[in-house]
Parts: sequence; C-alpha cells; structure tokens
Amino acid sequence: MDRSIQFALGQDQADPIKQYKERFHIPKDNAGKDTIYLCGNSLGLMPKTTPAYVMQELEDWKNLGVEGHFHAKNPWMPYHEILTEQMAGIVGALPSEIVVMNSLTVNLHLMMVSFYRPTRERYKILFDYSPFPSDRYAISSQLKYHGFQPEEGMIELKPESGQEEVSMHHIENILHEHGHEIALILIGGVNYYTGQAYDVKRITQLGHQNGCLVGFDMAHAAGNLSLRLHDDGPDFASWCTYKYLNSGPGSLSGCFVHERHHQNTALPRFAGWWGNDKKTRFMMQNEFNPIRTAEGWQLSNPPVLSMAAIKASLDIFSEAGMDELRKKSIRLTAYLAALIQLEDNKNLRIITPESEEKRGCQLSLQMKRPDKRLFNYLTSNGVISDWREPDVIRVAPVPLYNSFEDVWHFSRILHEGLNNIK
Ligand SMILES: Cc1ncc(COP(=O)(O)O)c(C=O)c1O
Repeated sequence: MDRSIQFALGQDQADPIKQYKERFHIPKDNAGKDTIYLCGNSLGLMPKTTPAYVMQELEDWKNLGVEGHFHAKNPWMPYHEILTEQMAGIVGALPSEIVVMNSLTVNLHLMMVSFYRPTRERYKILFDYSPFPSDRYAISSQLKYHGFQPEEGMIELKPESGQEEVSMHHIENILHEHGHEIALILIGGVNYYTGQAYDVKRITQLGHQNGCLVGFDMAHAAGNLSLRLHDDGPDFASWCTYKYLNSGPGSLSGCFVHERHHQNTALPRFAGWWGNDKKTRFMMQNEFNPIRTAEGWQLSNPPVLSMAAIKASLDIFSEAGMDELRKKSIRLTAYLAALIQLEDNKNLRIITPESEEKRGCQLSLQMKRPDKRLFNYLTSNGVISDWREPDVIRVAPVPLYNSFEDVWHFSRILHEGLNNIK
C-alpha cells in the first residue's frame, strides 16, 4: 500500500464527489487553519446553505406572523411533509413510512408504547451490547412502566467471549434459547461505541420468526449506510438528524413505521393533535382519528426552524446521492484502517469489524495501554475526534466533507502522538 501524501491527493483528485467538501463550514483551529473534523458520528458539520434556509422562515415569520402557516414560501402547516420523500430515500423507506418529529429518545419511547406489548410470558427486550445510555434508560424505564424488573427483562447482546463483534450465529443462538420470552428486539443499526453495523434484514427475519417485534435505533446508521428499511422489514426505526445528517445540535429525529402497521388503529399509542387525520385536525373534535401513515404517531406541530436546517442538508444528500456517498465512505474508511494498521498496530487495536458490510464511516480505536494524552495530542494538533471512556477514540471520515488528504494527515498526527506518549 502506498503511504505517500501523493497517493491521498490522487485519490481526492479522482473522487467524483470531492466538490461537496466546499459546501460545508469546516471549524478552524486556533491558528485559523481548517481542523481535521472526524466527528460527524457525533455532530455533523453545517452546510453553508443552512443560514439561508433558516432565514427564509424567520423572514416569513417577521413579515407574515401567523399567516405563515399557509402563506410562507414553504407553508409551515405542512412543512414536515417536504422532508419526507428525501428522508425516505436516505433510509430506503416508502414516504408513508416516514415522519420527522420530536427527538430520538422521545421517538424510541413513542415506538415502544406501540410496539413493546409485553405479556407475563413474553416481556423481555433484547438490545445490543454497550448501547448509548439513553437507549438503556428508555428500555429499562419501559420495563418498569409495565411492572417488570429491568434486571430480569433486559437481555444484553454481548459478543461471545474472546470475540470483538456480535456474530449472527450468536444472535441466532440467543433467539433459539430466549425467543419465546422476548417481546421486542431493539438494536442500534450501528453500535455507537464499537461501530459495528448489524444485519437489519436477518435480525428482523429471525425476530419475526420467533414472534418478536423488531425496532432499530438508526442514530449512527442514517446518512451513513445504504439502508433498506422497507424491504428489510423492521417494525419501526428512529434516528437523530444531527450526526451524519448535518441538521444542527439537538435537531429533530426521523421515524419509520413499517406500512404493515398503518391501518391498525387498535395499536396503543400516545396521541396528539398533529397525528390526527388532516381533514378533521382543525375541527377540534373529541375523538382522535390517527392519520393512516407514520404521521399518525406525531404529537405536536413541529419546529419549523429546525426542519429548515434539515431541509438544507437533505438537499445536499439528494444531489450527491446516498449510493455515491456510501461508495466513497467504504474507500475512505478502508484507507484509514489500512494506514493505522500499517503504522500503529502495536499500540492501537481497531475494534470495529473489518468487513465493509459490518461497519459504516466510523472506526473505534482502542488503546492497548489507555492514555488520554493521545486524544489530547490529537486535539491540540487540530484533529476533532472523540474519546469514550475508558480507552476508545472514535473517528469517522464522512464522505461529504472529509478527504483522503484529511485521513492521511490524521494518521500522521496519530502516529506522532503514539510515539510522543511512549
Ligand atoms: C445511539 C443513540 N441513541 C440515542 C441518542 C440520544 O439522542 P437524543 O438526545 O436526540 O434523544 C444518541 C445521541 O447521541 C445516540 O447516539
């Protein structure tokens, strides 16, 4: 493998979507130089067009007041609908299966209200190892809410001893043994800590064969992997838009409900006026009549300023194309892995799976002798990444705004850092 900077520059030259980097604001270091931003798995960067999209709505509010609901350039009343088709394209869903609403943990709870229906015999929830804490709290509180002990009801999917990743074989064994007592499988499409991507289709099939409902937290997968939610068939999924989807801190979440559930008005759900049939929503009737799409799970009228920022980013995704982004991402992450393995394998281990179907942009680098000085060295040398206690640095080259050159410089700084802290 060619380790020269010329190789990286050549790859960038040949990259058919290199121009998108220019469309983002890259944070600067103290000297005013662009940082090497490898943190899109945590918070995506701001498209240069975002302020204009948000300003449009502020201007309409300034000039139209309440009339903006119907007469803004993009009328606010149906504003969330302009996000649906593009978001559906990103996660491989039918538009009727998608709604942008609330934030992620709220949506996980709303989905569990409908799709976690425990009985005394079948009440457990299978979830992936080391999930983001919010998912663990949400799952645990749902069990308690239904009168079960979280310690008894939570089955954590851990890699088998001596393994780094959770294998499909292991999932099959767990379902073989416990499938009859599992009400819900709720897995992160990509594990936030290890970066392992799960086989959505196979897990869904196995779950359904065992009588379980199946949902995914796609926070680290949406805008990262080429998803096929409709065809793969999980019952629901939800994700935030502020990571790979670049919509800004704390922005709204996407939610998927498979169409097989849309007509089922008997499903329990928490209701609010925005989920009511649009024809009668403003008649202020007593009876709740849910929209027969994913929109029927909405509660409140959604924040337009946040949706405007989402729209700015989705327009860029539509132009670049998810398939093209994924192609570049596979090459970029493989290049990063190869440079690290060549230089630094004595002190660092990549705990993210090696095969491209089992990971997205992110690599999780585990230090053999944990020392946060390495992370501090990276930061003080213009690399934005993140440190996860006790010993992992996560780095995610994002195809929209990272280049092969970024990856090359990162690997050089990482190598220097490892030598410095010996
Ligand atoms: C996997 C995962 N789940 C849940 C959350 C929580 O998201 P929110 O604060 O939008 O509810 C995050 C946030 O980073 C996450 O990474």
